[in-house]
Amino acid sequence: MNKILLAIETSCDETAMALVEASGIKNNPSFKVVKNIISSQIEIHKKFGGVVPNLAKREHKKNLPILFKKFGWQVLNKLDFIAITVGPGLDPALWTGIDFAKEIGKKLKKKVVGANHLEGHLYSNWVTQNSKLETRNSIKFPAVVLLVSGGHTMLVLMSSIYKWRVIGETLDDAAGEAFDKVARMLKLPYPGGPEIEKIAKKGDQNKIKFPRPLLNTSGENKYNFSFSGLKTAVFYYLRDQKLKTNNYKLKTNIAASFQSAIVETLVKKTVLLCRESSAKSVLMCGGVAQNRVLRKALQKSAKLLKIGFFAPDGYLNTDNAAMIGVSAIFRIWSKKKLLSLRSQPHLGL
Ligand code: KG4
Ligand code: ZN
Repeated sequence: MNKILLAIETSCDETAMALVEASGIKNNPSFKVVKNIISSQIEIHKKFGGVVPNLAKREHKKNLPILFKKFGWQVLNKLDFIAITVGPGLDPALWTGIDFAKEIGKKLKKKVVGANHLEGHLYSNWVTQNSKLETRNSIKFPAVVLLVSGGHTMLVLMSSIYKWRVIGETLDDAAGEAFDKVARMLKLPYPGGPEIEKIAKKGDQNKIKFPRPLLNTSGENKYNFSFSGLKTAVFYYLRDQKLKTNNYKLKTNIAASFQSAIVETLVKKTVLLCRESSAKSVLMCGGVAQNRVLRKALQKSAKLLKIGFFAPDGYLNTDNAAMIGVSAIFRIWSKKKLLSLRSQPHLGL
């Protein structure tokens, strides 16, 4: 059955809208992103070194009608429904999107469906950038998913497209958050992940041995992460060595050594779960999945394990509305309870 929907995402600092077409059957779906627009607020939040919730709300409010106008009425009249992220995320930012979705839902007389941002990331591997309806039935189950974003770090075990369990998560900072905080210590701009990756290319990853927290632990933290100690280790290293953050060589070595500590921790725990669950595929998603060093390391491990490796292309790693649309369709097909249309900042997977 064919469905066409308008998806909206405003949980953090990207105002995003996408027109998504879904086809096929429950266990063999195909998707096509007909149109996708992302209006990034990075330049606005950059001067504050991170996302300011009320500024995000103001920008979403300004951007939503501008983006909406780019979709044209003929297309909007064909919609089956509208999908909107209801959580997790920043409360004022989420409300702005929810209120807007309700308003246009009323105007267009279309049903509004709530979507979970984390399910969006989880399903981003089922979205392709092609202009054809495409199926990702090459993802075999059980599948291990490493979800690494600015707000979350999770290991998820999927037994089917519709059934999963969160096996591990971070006890403190998320991987992306650690990248952003360390970048700030090194006086690099926000968001820190891409900046660290860039300068790490010129550094020596073996120069400084930063800790790999919770690696090789058994018991309840076997699959959990903790990045706050690693971030503090970078802070103390800078302080104890009395080194200046304007020393470029030093910055590159810290960036490379820090990145290597994060990548090793993420990859080793993911591989362990793949082994123990006899996974047939390994997937990654979320903003940090954009990191080439992490992608290559996990891809290499998947090859050794002889299992499929999947990671989203380009814009599908970071926040976007296409993944929100796809996750809303999956939720409807799953017959799970629909999410209520109110901001849920701490919604989990
Ligand atoms: O998924 P996302 O766009 O937003 C959240 O849902 O949080 O992820 C944003 C995070 C930021 O912390 C950013 O620094 C990180 O993803 N990130 C990266 C890279 N590109 C983005 N981290 C490491 N390496 C990258 N290349
Ligand atoms: Zn996200």
